[in-house]
Amino acid sequence: MTLPFSHGGTVHAVARLLGVPTGELLDFSASINPLGPPPGVRQAVMTAFDQVVHYPDPEATELRQALALRHALPPENLRVANGSTELIHLLPRLLPGRRALIVAPPFSEYAAALEGGGWEVQYFLLAPEDGFELSLTKLEERLADGFDLFVLANPGNPTGALVPPAKVTHVLELCRRFKTVPVVDEAFMDFCPEESAIPLLLEGGEGIILRSLTKFFALPGLRLGYAVGATGIIRRLGELIPPWSVGTLAQAAGVAALADEEYRLRTLHLIAGERAFLASSLTTLPGVHPYPSAANYLLVRITSGACAAPLQEKLLHQGILIRDCGNFPALSPDFFRVAVRSREENQRLLAALAEAMGV
Ligand SMILES: Cc1ncc(COP(=O)(O)O)c(C=O)c1O
Repeated sequence: MTLPFSHGGTVHAVARLLGVPTGELLDFSASINPLGPPPGVRQAVMTAFDQVVHYPDPEATELRQALALRHALPPENLRVANGSTELIHLLPRLLPGRRALIVAPPFSEYAAALEGGGWEVQYFLLAPEDGFELSLTKLEERLADGFDLFVLANPGNPTGALVPPAKVTHVLELCRRFKTVPVVDEAFMDFCPEESAIPLLLEGGEGIILRSLTKFFALPGLRLGYAVGATGIIRRLGELIPPWSVGTLAQAAGVAALADEEYRLRTLHLIAGERAFLASSLTTLPGVHPYPSAANYLLVRITSGACAAPLQEKLLHQGILIRDCGNFPALSPDFFRVAVRSREENQRLLAALAEAMGV
């Protein structure tokens, strides 16, 4: 049985395939905060329910203000959307040009969106042998070819590799020099907040940062993302986002989630501890090699010569989903990704992996 999916987190399709309820699945294939949404979100959504008889605030004013406060920016530098995926799909209409360079392994929606909009997409491949480190010299050579758009996910997904702000500064300088608009995808940056490029990008003017609230706050089913940039590009983006794309319940959930500082700190503590536990446990498991990660997932390579697809299938029969990364540009069929979850869930994964690999 091969899973016909190009994303992780396909619990509904897997549940149908296996004939089990979604609640019986343990999903390591999507990288979602294992704490679930902040506790205040449920109440906020229920309170906001009375408002569903009205169209939502198309400006998402309250949520935008909460985000502006968080990033110490004017609200004019921000625009909220129905998940960052909605913003990715608007890029071909937002930006003039035809040629994009995407750091790989990438999030697949960039190529889907850009190629769908008639763009030519090329990849800037990071190599496992270099620990997926981005070489500025090689990037300079590639950008000299002439690209209209450059996409970097930071931290990278599925690699977990982080490009520190000092290096992002150089990347942005290169983009400026070659007249290439940078898009920095910070969907997972809340897991290492001090590394964000938001202050750097705003200094430089052109370019855009995409953020997601669905991973850190465990709201992928509600859909919430936002873009940060100079006022001009944000205004143009606002004109492209369909009206009312962010519903009233999602807006209320976002405001409540951002207000919960205790949850944020608890998450950072949990993920740092469990990531270290999972990484060190995988390191001692014969036949696999985990890569260092700044996010809430680990990219793992099978070193025994086996492929990830049969492993994924074996785990599936135990109700455990992992992400086979064989279809990512720059990776091979021996790569898979697992989310960092609670201690008990991580231990279940480790036991299931050991059994499936016969070690
Ligand atoms: C790098 C990256 N960017 C963006 C997204 C989209 O997230 P969302 O649309 O839920 O905000 C994902 C989802 O996995 C991702 O991995």
